[in-house]
Amino acid sequence: MANEDLFKKVISHAKEYGYIFASSEIYDGLSAVYDYAQNGVELKKNIREYWWRSMVFMHQNIVGIDAAILMHPTTWKASGHIDAFNDPLIDNKDSKKRYRADVLIEDYCEKLNTKAQKEIAKAKKRFGDSFNEEEFVTTNPRVLKYRAQQKNILTRMAQSLDNEDLADVKLLIEELGIADPLSGSKNWTDVKQFNLMFGTKLGASAESATDLFLRPETAQGIFVNFLNVQKTGRMKIPFGIAQTGKAFRNEIVARQFIFRMREFEQMEMQFFVKPGEEMKWYDYWKKTRLKWHHSLGLGEKNYRFHDHEKLAHYANAATDIEFNFPFGFKELEGIHSRTDFDLKAHEQHSGKKLQFFDHEQNKNYVPYVVETSIGLDRMFLAIFSNSLKEEVLEDGSSRVVLKLPAIVAPIKAAVFPLVKKDGLQEIAKKIVEDLQWDYNVLYDEKDAVGRRYRRQDALGTPYCITVDHQTKEDQTVTVRNRNTMKQERILISDIPNKIRNSIAYKDWLS
Ligand code: GAP
Repeated sequence: MANEDLFKKVISHAKEYGYIFASSEIYDGLSAVYDYAQNGVELKKNIREYWWRSMVFMHQNIVGIDAAILMHPTTWKASGHIDAFNDPLIDNKDSKKRYRADVLIEDYCEKLNTKAQKEIAKAKKRFGDSFNEEEFVTTNPRVLKYRAQQKNILTRMAQSLDNEDLADVKLLIEELGIADPLSGSKNWTDVKQFNLMFGTKLGASAESATDLFLRPETAQGIFVNFLNVQKTGRMKIPFGIAQTGKAFRNEIVARQFIFRMREFEQMEMQFFVKPGEEMKWYDYWKKTRLKWHHSLGLGEKNYRFHDHEKLAHYANAATDIEFNFPFGFKELEGIHSRTDFDLKAHEQHSGKKLQFFDHEQNKNYVPYVVETSIGLDRMFLAIFSNSLKEEVLEDGSSRVVLKLPAIVAPIKAAVFPLVKKDGLQEIAKKIVEDLQWDYNVLYDEKDAVGRRYRRQDALGTPYCITVDHQTKEDQTVTVRNRNTMKQERILISDIPNKIRNSIAYKDWLS
């Protein structure tokens, strides 16, 4: 499937099979806001669980919290979000469309990258087995030219944004000849900063109400609880606090389905370390998080690191784990070395000491922080889009199959009676009743069994269990594997084992 087609299919499949609906659809929806449907909510919950286990269960020095979405307004002054949580926006005067200036420039650079990749692919084809990619990319003049151009552009953009030189960002767009992707017009306004936080009010009357913000990241709920958790949990440096929950951003350029939403969910972990050791932990978390991604089996070539040229106001190193979405490589997760910026800022604004007493050194210090921050919705999109396949079968027919990793699949098994008579329904229902204590399973007796298989393939159910006449004789059923479509006969009493083995966290996470 071509990438654009695949993305359209992802969106329509997500709706048709009860994964994602547009929010308040009967009123024509709300831009960049989505609802998770009956299967989507299960997939999302399972991804969250997969992350939580790897972070909290698998690290004795990481604990979880669930802080409130509404926080004291000074939090956002201290964190820098009131002053600096802005996007540089630019409008096209002809099309009246609004864009993020930095995204227009990054998209331009991605095109340079694609050109370099094409040169590499051509050379690979020409030289075959004797092709030395490392040598080629470091010596080929065209690849070197594209890479240098890309670097120069990104460095200049980073410097201009750091210096708040928005006039130069506009100049850069003009010099590169970047046109409105929709209309082709190059008639741009000046670049302006726009704060992304949603405001709200706390209080009964307009006069006494306090202005609040919906949190734009979950991380600050962790920082303000640092001391509470450290003391009550008797945590010793290095230790981490993990949290999952909603975050809100008034994204101006909200597109690409659930990739960029105005209300979304983050899974974040702040790891508190001794000052000076942050780079060691930054490298550790880069490796650990990439390994977590690889464990889901979506293909190692679909991930890459993208180190930041322009660092956020709180960071001294930062990288994105990018995923190969249907619209290209884009940020899936951020790993940031946040220094002691947040804790120090909260100390200053609250007047409370947010420090750790190190017995070995016999002194207090403000810990440094390495953060891992992944969007749950983006992870959902990565898994869902990567899993959706259209396959041509041996007999020439085709099937649509959602090859979700079994560990996160919403429904683990569907149980069918082959026919609706001879007592087969009762046996199938009894199997469901026994399994549903531990697993989300489904009973289906409608239509021919082949159609039921197709339905479950499209839903992403790893196993279909069919009760037939032989079941009555020897207590066996057929189990059909979604990916291979192979069937095997097993005893009813072996079904729980079969499912359990396919979704053992130990096997997946290690
Ligand atoms: N606490 C750090 C932080 O929030 P970020 O890079 O702004 O860093 C972290 O966000 C992750 O949250 C991103 O890598 C992305 O997966 C997700 N994310 C950010 N904005 C989003 C949006 N508008 N819609 C969906 N996911 C988003």
